[in-house]
Amino acid sequence: MLTPVATPVAPFELARASAVDIARSVGRIAFKNIRRTRNVVDAEYNSGQWGRILSERSWLQEPTLESFLIGQDDHERMAKVDGQIVRIKAREYYRYRLGALAKLVSDQAGEATSVLELGAGYGYNLFALSSDPRWSSLRGLDIAPNGIEAGRQIASHYGLQDRVTFDRIDLTDAADPRLPELSGATILTYFCIEQIPYAVEAVVDHILSARPARVINIEPAVDMLTLTDPRDVASRIYIRSMDYQTQLFALLDQLETQKRVRVLSRQRMGFAPSLHNDGLLYVWEPVV
Ligand SMILES: C[S@@+](CC[C@H](N)C(=O)[O-])C[C@H]1O[C@@H](n2cnc3c(N)ncnc32)[C@H](O)[C@@H]1O
Repeated sequence: MLTPVATPVAPFELARASAVDIARSVGRIAFKNIRRTRNVVDAEYNSGQWGRILSERSWLQEPTLESFLIGQDDHERMAKVDGQIVRIKAREYYRYRLGALAKLVSDQAGEATSVLELGAGYGYNLFALSSDPRWSSLRGLDIAPNGIEAGRQIASHYGLQDRVTFDRIDLTDAADPRLPELSGATILTYFCIEQIPYAVEAVVDHILSARPARVINIEPAVDMLTLTDPRDVASRIYIRSMDYQTQLFALLDQLETQKRVRVLSRQRMGFAPSLHNDGLLYVWEPVV
């Protein structure tokens, strides 16, 4: 994995940036009062980001999948790299993230040779994994048709259509015809369940009932945040201001107490593209 070019952020600068971040989140709570309904999620992702990505087709201008994933943005930002907040150019961060995510998933996936990502969008994470020959199948399911279509076009453009595939699922629907695909699969969610705060229990129930081999959840969480670190306070208020889910990990802990799941790993994420919201990793298996 490449060591990125990055400058550590001084404590006073971090405290100031956290204060600005908190002020923005408080403003969002006061003036926007976001309620993360299906329509809001559709506007942000299907008609929003994924719609834009599909209409721009920027992969057509990029000679390699890696250059498409890293992008062209040379602006500096604060990001979390190997557990530390640093100043880093966006493209340096995304170059580092490709390796960091690939290593993380590979380390957590046991003996699996395929990954099924739920809420995969256009497959950014799956394409990041695709350089590792270990993965014979990388499959993305999502509710957003524009994400699915963009993912299919990207896979086909880079000749990956046999290994990286996409289809539709609604994780809130107990009768969704794709749920049986989860059986025996190694599942990844990456900031997906965050978008479904109104149905976390149902989504976990649908995943558990399908009997996957293993689940790797990487989602925002308040569970491991402290009240003494200004950055953690910024994350907590940001999560509240965006109305992201906050129940998932408490629910998994409860299921573990009931001996319905076995939790294999709990850890805070070592990388994140911003000051706030660095996510929590839970890896678990159904108890059979
Ligand atoms: C924040 S994006 C993350 C996308 C991807 N995991 C990534 O890291 O690039 C959340 C994704 O969850 C999807 N999603 C939201 N509700 C869903 C549902 N009920 N069923 C399946 N996917 C859903 C959205 O369409 C969106 O693509």
